[in-house]
This record gives sequence, C-alpha cells and structure tokens, in this order.
Amino acid sequence: MISAMFKQVDIQAAMSNPIGQIGSDWMLVTSGSVSKFNMMTASWGAAGFMWNKPVVFVFIRTNRYTFEFMENNPSFTVSFFNADKKKILSFCGSHSGRDVDKASACGLTAFQTPCGSVAFEESKLYFECRKMYAQQMQASSFIDKEALDKWYSKDPMHKMYVAEILGAYSAH
Ligand SMILES: Cc1cc2nc3c(=O)[nH]c(=O)nc-3n(C[C@H](O)[C@H](O)[C@H](O)COP(=O)(O)O)c2cc1C
Repeated sequence: MISAMFKQVDIQAAMSNPIGQIGSDWMLVTSGSVSKFNMMTASWGAAGFMWNKPVVFVFIRTNRYTFEFMENNPSFTVSFFNADKKKILSFCGSHSGRDVDKASACGLTAFQTPCGSVAFEESKLYFECRKMYAQQMQASSFIDKEALDKWYSKDPMHKMYVAEILGAYSAH
C-alpha cells in the first residue's frame, strides 16, 4: 500500500540532480520486509536510463549486512532525507544492523511499500526499485588500477545492482 504520507511523483523530476542527491546528500538503501529488513547509507551510485527504463545503480560491498538482504529480496528502496536528518544517514553508514537495531536507534518508522519492500515515514522521497541485473566487481576489470588500489586493498569489492525504478514517492 502507499503510505498516506507520500504521494507518487514523476521519477525524472524527483531525480534531477543525481550527483548531488546521491553523492552529497546521500541515500539509504533498504532491503527486506517490514518484519525483517536492513538499511545502510550509500553515497556511491547512479540514476539513469537502461533497457528503456528509469534505473538506479547501487554498489554494495559484500561484507555489509545489507548485502544479505539485497541478495535475498527481489526489490529494495532508496530513500532521501532533508538535511536536518543527515545524522540518521551518518549513523546508518557507521553501524551495522548485525550489531544494532538501526531503525529504533534513529527513530525511523518503517512501512511496507507497494512492491512489498520497506521505506520510512521520516524520509522526504523514496524510490521503489526492482532488481534487474547484478554483477560482482572484479580486480581484472579495473582499467584504472589506482582506483583498485585506493578502494579495494583492504575491503571486499562491491557488487553492482541495476534496478528499475518502479515509482517515486514524495512526502506531502
Ligand atoms: C556517506 C557514506 C556513504 C557510504 N556509501 C556506501 C556505498 O555506496 N556502498 C557501500 O557498500 N557502503 C557504503 N557506506 C558504508 C555502509 O553504509 C556502512 O558500512 C554500514 O554500516 C553498513 O551497514 P550494514 O552492515 O548494516 O549493512 C557508506 C557510508 C557512509 C557514511
């Protein structure tokens, strides 16, 4: 069901500045069902057009708890917050759902989205996303070896998910 607090809006208008909205403002990637879900902050990703659909690309390192949910669920959400809620994103980007209930620690109210995923009443905008393609990054594919050394000398590589944006929902 669509939360009464949100209304469906035009996807293109809602994502007019993906570099700023993702890279500077950050987003929350949430996967699972209301009874069992996890979310994490992401500032790497993209929004664009692929296979004639509006899509997001998200990149999740395989050691994240969220990764398990991303693998096991067909859909996920990406949520955006007003600047005064950035501490929520800082928290969800520095704590693991393996150790703490991030929703209750941050005062986030989860609800079920139309496609059965999870979003939060405190967000200003969320996208429902349906996984279409996933690919594990590999060292041999890096053309820029400096980026490989810089970002992957210690931590596991990201897995990329390309997902159709099924709908954009903005808080009233
Ligand atoms: C600003 C910011 C951006 C982040 N972007 C990403 C990202 O794009 N991909 C990723 O795998 N981790 C990213 N992280 C790290 C995860 O959010 C962090 O490891 C989180 O605690 C994982 O939580 P989980 O174990 O509950 O999944 C980011 C963290 C911050 C603070």
